[in-house]
Amino acid sequence: MRIDIVSVFPEYFAVLDVSLLGKAREQGTLDIAVHDPREFTNDRHRTVDDTPYGGGAGMVMRPEPWGAALDHVLACGGAVLPVHEVPRLLVPSPAGRLFTQELADELSREPWLVLACGRYEGIDQRVVDDARGRMRVDEVSMGDYVLNGGEVAALAIIEAVGRLVPGVVGNVCSLAEESHVAGLLEAPAYTKPASWRGREVPSVLLSGHHGRVARWRRQQSLRRTARVRPDLILRLDPGSCDADDLAVLGELGWLPTGDGFARGLPPGPGAVAD
Ligand code: 6GU
Repeated sequence: MRIDIVSVFPEYFAVLDVSLLGKAREQGTLDIAVHDPREFTNDRHRTVDDTPYGGGAGMVMRPEPWGAALDHVLACGGAVLPVHEVPRLLVPSPAGRLFTQELADELSREPWLVLACGRYEGIDQRVVDDARGRMRVDEVSMGDYVLNGGEVAALAIIEAVGRLVPGVVGNVCSLAEESHVAGLLEAPAYTKPASWRGREVPSVLLSGHHGRVARWRRQQSLRRTARVRPDLILRLDPGSCDADDLAVLGELGWLPTGDGFARGLPPGPGAVAD
């Protein structure tokens, strides 16, 4: 996969040399390049931002150097790809759609991504609108909080997407067993020693009984999700739940509906189990 990053702080991306992604770059599985819009300015001070029209705090990324940087990426970035290839542009922004595992999965099947990282109040909207005429564009947010710019968000996106690209993570099974893959949080994990500071590893994990381990993990996963992220249970597909799952969720007060789950009344002390 080819990834082009446009940022006025290229040094942010030094971490992409480290660990699994660093190895993937060395092997050529990921081909990542960073481009600085400052290289596309014409004035003496190499200005990349200016004050917002209409007033207000902060600075906005100027369209000319950002447009020129994107033109350059389109013209040269995909030199290694077939000529008909058009990249998918991601613009990290707190005003974007939520970046999810589902989108990461979709993006991992693209041959070419471009990430345009604005600082402060973002990039002049015309750069994004102009790009929409040439490629698919998504403004994406990491969640309901504010960062100073898109760089850290871009790193999170590259890590979430890059690890799904075949050949980047050695053990593909580990990808299927993680939080958010099945719409649930994963079960807690333990390693040796079996006893530590008086705390024991749950005995089922030492039993060697794969079926019981799987059922325990699934149950932990459901309980943890119901406790920490009830919003995920609301959207859980009842069709993906077996009788054991429904029993666990029912005990926690969640009842299947046509297309998800709803919180009913947890069975009270007088409830008759049948
Ligand atoms: Cl993608 N950018 C910025 N600046 N702030 C954010 C964000 C992105 N996602 C959440 N907050």
